[in-house]
Amino acid sequence: MSEKTPKLRAALDGIPTYKPGRPAASDGPVAYKLSSNENPYPPLPGVLERAVEAAGAFNRYPDMACTGLMAELAERFSVPVEHLATGTGSVGVAQQLVQATAGPGDEVIYAWRSFEAYPIVTQVSGATSVKVPLTSGEVHDLDAMLAAITDRTRLIFVCNPNNPTGTVVRRAELEAFLDRVPDGILVVLDEAYREFIRDPEVPDGVDLYRDRPNVCVLRTFSKAYGLAGLRIGFAVAHEPVAAALRKTAVPFGVSQLAQEAAVASLRSEAALLERVDALVAERTRVAAALAAQGWEVPPSEANFVWLRLGERTGEFAEACERAGVVVRPFAGEGVRVTIGESAAMDLFLSAAEEFRKTV
Ligand SMILES: Cc1ncc(COP(=O)(O)O)c(C=O)c1O
Repeated sequence: MSEKTPKLRAALDGIPTYKPGRPAASDGPVAYKLSSNENPYPPLPGVLERAVEAAGAFNRYPDMACTGLMAELAERFSVPVEHLATGTGSVGVAQQLVQATAGPGDEVIYAWRSFEAYPIVTQVSGATSVKVPLTSGEVHDLDAMLAAITDRTRLIFVCNPNNPTGTVVRRAELEAFLDRVPDGILVVLDEAYREFIRDPEVPDGVDLYRDRPNVCVLRTFSKAYGLAGLRIGFAVAHEPVAAALRKTAVPFGVSQLAQEAAVASLRSEAALLERVDALVAERTRVAAALAAQGWEVPPSEANFVWLRLGERTGEFAEACERAGVVVRPFAGEGVRVTIGESAAMDLFLSAAEEFRKTV
């Protein structure tokens, strides 16, 4: 580096880079991408048409207040518009939340392993990550997370269901946890996979937020709603948290295409949720098949399953790729496999069965 090199913040040194799920090769034998927890279905006709129509006006800036979408969400969740904030994906909103609460000297607590953006957004803010290991059952250890709270703690992420394990925390334990978190600490319930939950004991974060001013719920249109490429997510939180999110938002960050597609998706919800049901049925089939093959798979309430493979993680991912599916390896830990088309899951299951013989 020369003297001319601009001085960058030391907080950025050693920051982990976000690793996107690898795409399926376009020229090789690999056919299916099961590495990013995307929805395999193409946009619904009504949603696509609305987005295409909005595209005709992309010489204009979007509606910065996302007025139409906010009104729709406010009605749907029975919350005031002032309690809503949108962002460029829920990861964008997560970054705004950390920016709004934590800087140098402050701590952000989250389970580990969990969503890989948490360490990144924490470090970008200059705050310190406090990673609390999952239990041996791959579930959030809420008692250990409580024990990790200090007077420097500003924010706690609870990822429910957890990415990449698919595991959940249930109502009684989450409520008991929230009751014990000291005032002044923001608890973010990241519910990116909410629509895939079938366990009735898992609470809806929006119910928990209502009488808890320190709870913020994160939701996204990327997963069940299939709008990952349009980048739109939102938070439900009391003032002043929601107001802080509006302050930290990148102006005009959410495109008009995304806003229109999100509104159309909410209005086509029955059709969308039918697709979610099909993915949940596929999840059940895959989990049962893996169990029959002898794998121990933590129960997943999301659109993916987790195999803890330890040292054999890379080898397993390569075996899957040879079979025609790209999965998401976390080196030395395990592999996350998104639930996609049945044909993709059949290829994955055959690869897993073959691999199992070598375990
Ligand atoms: C737990 C969790 N939260 C948030 C996100 C971010 O999704 P998006 O930014 O597309 O809304 C993801 C995406 O993988 C996730 O797994």
